[in-house]
Amino acid sequence: MTNKKQNEITLAFTGASGAPYGLKLLESLLAADYKVYLLISPAARVVLATEHDLKLPSGPEAAKKALVKLFGCDPERLEVCGKEDWFSPVASGSAAPKKMVICPCSVGSVASIAHGMSDNLIERAADVVIKERGQLMLVVRETPFSTLHLENMHKLSQLGVTIMPASPGFYHNPKSIDDLVDFMVARILDHLGIEQELVPRWGYDQRNEA
Ligand SMILES: Cc1cc2nc3c(=O)[nH]c(=O)nc-3n(C[C@H](O)[C@H](O)[C@H](O)COP(=O)(O)O)c2cc1C
Repeated sequence: MTNKKQNEITLAFTGASGAPYGLKLLESLLAADYKVYLLISPAARVVLATEHDLKLPSGPEAAKKALVKLFGCDPERLEVCGKEDWFSPVASGSAAPKKMVICPCSVGSVASIAHGMSDNLIERAADVVIKERGQLMLVVRETPFSTLHLENMHKLSQLGVTIMPASPGFYHNPKSIDDLVDFMVARILDHLGIEQELVPRWGYDQRNEA
């Protein structure tokens, strides 16, 4: 994969609980001047409406318009891709960004990706990043995990995929849900190598106070 794609990223929302993580991550990537190719599964739309009261229009262009309005971002920075838009850059190793995050990621999508199904654009985009040896991160949410879930995650981890469970810590003394969301998004941005000031780094504040 080529370097000219450095400031581009593919972000997918799937139907796991955790819509606020995905929305905060999208906001942070746009604020960091990334061009974001956004993929939204049908189940993710249900979760967005349930957890965030955000009813996105079904067409990619209309969904983009709603999100550009929500985040006040430059429309050039966001491209919403349809479920079977096989002509999207993310569908081919010759054009896809080097980095992809699925946040939140359902265990159903984990299973499909672990088995190379490529049955919709999210699965295909993930398959492309794996085959091109780019950076793929899955922010998986389910509890408890079955042996099947663990086996699928183990398989992907061995391929170099980062399994980033949506399990925020409490050592930064969160006071709100936003603080918990920020914790997860900060860890994701750290792994992507994107500067963030959402959460103080471990050790710095504690040392200064000691
Ligand atoms: C409100 C809501 C919450 C859900 N939470 C989860 C979850 O936390 N983890 C999960 O793996 N699936 C969850 N599901 C089920 C998935 O949405 C479902 O398995 C779906 O087929 C996943 O498809 P997708 O990966 O293509 O989005 C939830 C569904 C709904 C409607």
